Amino acid sequence: MLVKLVKPYGRVLDLGCGTGFVSQLLNNCKVVGLDISAGMVKAYRERFGRGVVGNAEELPFKDGSFDFVLSNFSLHWTDWKRSIVEALRVSKVGVGIAIPVEGSVSFSNFPFPKAEEILETFKPEAFEVKEISIPFKGFDLIRFFHYTGTANYREKKKLIPPGKLSKLAKNLKKEKFIVLFLYIKKDRPEGGI
Ligand SMILES: C[S@@+](CC[C@H](N)C(=O)[O-])C[C@H]1O[C@@H](n2cnc3c(N)ncnc32)[C@H](O)[C@@H]1O
Repeated sequence: MLVKLVKPYGRVLDLGCGTGFVSQLLNNCKVVGLDISAGMVKAYRERFGRGVVGNAEELPFKDGSFDFVLSNFSLHWTDWKRSIVEALRVSKVGVGIAIPVEGSVSFSNFPFPKAEEILETFKPEAFEVKEISIPFKGFDLIRFFHYTGTANYREKKKLIPPGKLSKLAKNLKKEKFIVLFLYIKKDRPEGGI
């Protein structure tokens, strides 16, 4: 959906690339991945060659280094305002983002951003909000979250003890993400940051 919304071409930064889920769809583009996790970047490099360890909030690239920046399911781990301003700075044409927003994953108290706040701040060219159900429940759901990346989640540093974890797993129902897909053009006549 993200790739269809943005239709990227040329040089593309896959921001918070993980193992390259987005890059694998960009056959006609020159991709570079960036992730805060060295392990993810190692896996990414094995598939796509060019990968950089870095923080989305302070990108190690010059202004306009890429035609497009695409980011899938990564910027909710970051200060999204800073990361999106950075993504716009290093892009020439625009930035495409898929980000889970408030209303996602009812059992967690993760501070998902509010869709309205993102839309109001950046005034995108196009956007869509979709409900996407997660095809796991119980302990499989916990495992799913465990394997989806490195959290830069500053507020929750404690580990959950095993007893509490299995009780939590038993009570977990099917969950969903509310996902905001947006395409922010670099130069927007209607304003926004
Ligand atoms: C759920 S994964 C998504 C990976 C990939 N984009 C995909 O679609 O499969 C989230 C990724 O964001 C990365 N990440 C978290 N905080 C970050 C930050 N501040 N800067 C860059 N990457 C970050 C994680 O290391 C992880 O690889």
